[in-house]
Amino acid sequence: MSAHTPKPPKRPLRSAQWFGTADKNGFMYRSWMKNQGIPDHEFQGKPIIGICNTWSELTPCNAHFRKLAEHVRRGVFEAGGFPVEFPVFSNGESNLRPTAMFTRNLASMDVEESIRGNPVDAVVLLVGCDKTTPALLMGAASCDVPAIAVSGGPMLNGKHHGKDIGSGTVVWQLSEQVKAGKITLHEFMSAEAGMSRSAGTCNTMGTASTMACMAEALGVTLPHNAAIPAVDARRYVLAHMSGMRIVDMALEDLTLSKLLTKEAFENAIRINAAIGGSTNAAIHLKAIAGRIGVALELDDWTRVGRGTPTLVDLQPSGRFLMEEFYYAGGLPGVIRRLGEAGLLPHPDALTANGASLWRNSQDAPIHDEEVIRPIGKPLVPDGGLCVVRGNLAPNGAVVKPSAATASLLKHRGRAVVFENFDDYKARIADPELDVDANSVMVLKNCGPKGYPGMAEVGNMGLPPKLLAQGVTDMVRISDARMSGTAYGTVVLHVAPEARAGGPLAVVRDGDWIALDCFAGSLQLEIGDAELAERLVVWHAAQTALPADGSGYRKLYVDHVLQADQGCDFDFLVGCRGADVPRHSH
Ligand code: FES
Ligand code: MG
Repeated sequence: MSAHTPKPPKRPLRSAQWFGTADKNGFMYRSWMKNQGIPDHEFQGKPIIGICNTWSELTPCNAHFRKLAEHVRRGVFEAGGFPVEFPVFSNGESNLRPTAMFTRNLASMDVEESIRGNPVDAVVLLVGCDKTTPALLMGAASCDVPAIAVSGGPMLNGKHHGKDIGSGTVVWQLSEQVKAGKITLHEFMSAEAGMSRSAGTCNTMGTASTMACMAEALGVTLPHNAAIPAVDARRYVLAHMSGMRIVDMALEDLTLSKLLTKEAFENAIRINAAIGGSTNAAIHLKAIAGRIGVALELDDWTRVGRGTPTLVDLQPSGRFLMEEFYYAGGLPGVIRRLGEAGLLPHPDALTANGASLWRNSQDAPIHDEEVIRPIGKPLVPDGGLCVVRGNLAPNGAVVKPSAATASLLKHRGRAVVFENFDDYKARIADPELDVDANSVMVLKNCGPKGYPGMAEVGNMGLPPKLLAQGVTDMVRISDARMSGTAYGTVVLHVAPEARAGGPLAVVRDGDWIALDCFAGSLQLEIGDAELAERLVVWHAAQTALPADGSGYRKLYVDHVLQADQGCDFDFLVGCRGADVPRHSH
């Protein structure tokens, strides 16, 4: 990046409407800020850069963000801006119950109103743990200010008994091994400290890494943002450079809507397939697109994503972890591979550094062809997210083929139904459960309204009696999500969800279900008349249910959209801009 060259702002800075007047209002805005020891010259027309921080000790993945913010701050100063750091709601995936997804929209509201109501000209979004990335991008997109994201970076590889272990993925693997009687509980517990041994986000290609890649693919970060480990000094150089760059973006008025175009989302969809990214991306990209005013539908994932090989051999789909991904060349290496194969739909899409996505990636070195595979030797030949529809999911559902068993992608079996997650937990280990390896496990009432929050329980563990027989995968269907670190032939995000009266609500034990990922279909094999009749009975029974509480939970249940619509609140969709509100006094 070239040294900073000061230039006049392309349009008057927002912050001038707070600090730029020699009157009563200007006095008040400046005077109180000066209690922090800020000299007067900082208020004389410098771009004011907000550093939007999701630091929290309860979000362990973002717990190093004070240091990250400090390096952003240095860059902002160096480029002639003035940094102001502010906290926003921090959604930590590992601790927050019932699920961090429940508060993604709440965090986005915090971000949006914090930006619009404050004297900031542009923002640096410090993002890391899964939901913090979409929440901050959603909030900033609704304001459409110049913004750059800086991710916290992944943890170092986990280590256990001399082997690398991956965040999340190893938990699923080892807990199944305990249930199958292959390892002891003590061996299982001893992996805890080794899995998470440095600052940073999950080191698998889970949702945090996926969303960091999506942010880079969308062009709202500097190149290499996604993969540099959290504790690598180069992560802090990237934070510094992002701090420098955002000052120029403020002066250039390079707002998010110039980056977050339909073309950028199509690039992101293609890149998600190439990295074997999380299914959660389908929900979050839709929500971000909705905020900036880009029409993005589930069918875009089929149209743009299908046919794209998965090149990145990372867990949970493959073998390696984010450390290897960075050392192998990171996301620019993947983009280069796609571009050279003619698989990058929009090479000219603009990115935060002012260059196109292709310009940033065309010469990117690739150092390890096991980790970033050649186009002719993919991990999965077609890794694009599979969208399926049918009478069981009229508005769609998704399957991640790179994490599934190929032979189960077309499957017909009899339903074993769990009415909700408690029902599943109560009965899954029952030796009398009428289930075999060909059964289709169906889990209801875990969608956005049903849980509420749409928990990551879709990859429900297999019945222990089948695990003991050596069964490793079965078709599972639900209105839930699954962790980006999880795997299996799992049909997720069924829309409409059971709680909203989707046909999933009326599936019964023993019904035949046909899944065909190649044809994009998911059918409950009963007649239309019977399905309609079952739904009438279901709706009649709902009137007896109590209303859904009070507080934020009520707001959530009343306003959350279905998975195919990104699970945003209906009243939050759209870009409301960053016009300066009227004075507070
Ligand atoms: Fe925070 Fe995985 S739990 S990134
Ligand atoms: Mg996760």
